[in-house]
Amino acid sequence: MIKDWFYDKLKSDIGEGRYNHSLRVMETSKDLALRYGCSVEKAELAGLLHDCGKFQGDINLLKVAADFDIILDSVMEKNVQLVHSLIGAVLAEREYGIEDKEVIDAIRYHTTGREHMSLLDKIIYIADLIEPGRDFPGVEELRKLAYEDIDSCMLEALDHTIEYVIQRKMLIHLDSVKARNQLLIQKNIE
Ligand SMILES: [Fe+2]
Ligand SMILES: [Fe+2]
Repeated sequence: MIKDWFYDKLKSDIGEGRYNHSLRVMETSKDLALRYGCSVEKAELAGLLHDCGKFQGDINLLKVAADFDIILDSVMEKNVQLVHSLIGAVLAEREYGIEDKEVIDAIRYHTTGREHMSLLDKIIYIADLIEPGRDFPGVEELRKLAYEDIDSCMLEALDHTIEYVIQRKMLIHLDSVKARNQLLIQKNIE
């Protein structure tokens, strides 16, 4: 359950801009949860906290991860933007007292996706990408698709992210590849 103090802590940890993004992700997650029959309570909680590990200011996330005994794989080590989701999952548990594994996993996998994502995982991943503050070519199509077919939207969202990563010559996380392969295989079987 969301406690009142979550909002204040989150705002001071991640800064106003990301805090406002988090509120929009929370709203979009709620809308998607209502559309697909997912728990609204879990969707709002995971949506609000999904970026709780994205500390503002000059903080070395690799050091924070080490302090939390988080073991990073080789892609995470080279792609620090991904690390905030792992830190977020630990913070959600230790500092916000979240015990629900589904909520913690949705936070953990909101940057990479994973094979066999839960409905909540998909909702948070997609809400993060399509919340009303986002503006990039194709976002309107994704917004529409999100309410029509969540798996097709998830596939498009992964394509979008992987293309972004390729264009910037960054490493692709294997969980994203596995998530995409599994969704594609599932689609071709249906
Ligand atoms: Fe994030
Ligand atoms: Fe986010």
